[in-house]
Amino acid sequence: MKTVKKAIIPAAGFGTRNLPITKVLPKEMFPIAGKPAIQYIIEEAIESGIEEILIVVSRNKNMILDYFDRSLEYEAFLEKTGKQHLLNKIVGPAISIQYVRQPFADGLGTAILLGKRFASKDPFAVLLPDDIFLQSGQPALRELLDVYENYQSTVIALEKLNEKLLKNYGVVKAIDLQDNTYEISDIVEKPRSTPPSNLAVSGRYIFEPSIFSYLEKGGKGVGGEVQLTDAIQKLLKLEKCYGVEVSAKRYDIGTDKGYLNLIQKLMSNSKKEDE
Ligand code: UTP
Repeated sequence: MKTVKKAIIPAAGFGTRNLPITKVLPKEMFPIAGKPAIQYIIEEAIESGIEEILIVVSRNKNMILDYFDRSLEYEAFLEKTGKQHLLNKIVGPAISIQYVRQPFADGLGTAILLGKRFASKDPFAVLLPDDIFLQSGQPALRELLDVYENYQSTVIALEKLNEKLLKNYGVVKAIDLQDNTYEISDIVEKPRSTPPSNLAVSGRYIFEPSIFSYLEKGGKGVGGEVQLTDAIQKLLKLEKCYGVEVSAKRYDIGTDKGYLNLIQKLMSNSKKEDE
């Protein structure tokens, strides 16, 4: 049985919906209770059993590399001032992280293609760092991995959404296989008219390396970007693809509202702990 040990985190987008702050601060570095957003994603990957990560960055995302690097100055300062108890706050995550730069943000599809050598012949996960899943039980990615281990084929995270919101998402046509698992037969990016269901794609995927050939065959799609959805559409004609309705609640920090909702939720959790 194949298991998934590698993950790609595409973080090279411009974050235009979060302007003006994203002129200087990548949305992956937005603070969430003292940690940057991307650290939540890395922790989810580690807790799900991932052992190697590739982060796709761009020229203005060096802050992400700095954050996961050692900070020799801080280490020396904490040692010198007798604050060794804080050293555990600045050690990087216990996982191998590599980086690749996307020269121009021309789509999520191109970003994932940059992971072709990293994935090699292995299945791999993709975690979009602007979708933060607040765990109540299992990490979101672990739910997808359980389905992958059962079916050994592509798995996509799904979320049932209000009809009004579907026009902003990839939406699937799928058969319910029970236990929050679906078999997907079609996918439409940002449907303008009648969506095929109320099941929207959210930011976690498991792919076989065959996805790279579908990405390579695709040109530019909606918005002039190389769309992952177009590659998935090609894959669906030849391979099985499953969906999982993830139980953890998703917060899209790519919008101010999603970010504020997440902070509000964490504040109310912390208030409950204080009571
Ligand atoms: P989004 O479309 O949500 O992010 O892409 P964006 O492009 O940064 O933001 P907006 O739409 O301009 O506000 C989903 C994920 O894919 C990455 C983004 O960094 C984000 O994490 N991405 C997108 C890339 O890595 N490269 C791209 O060319 C496009």
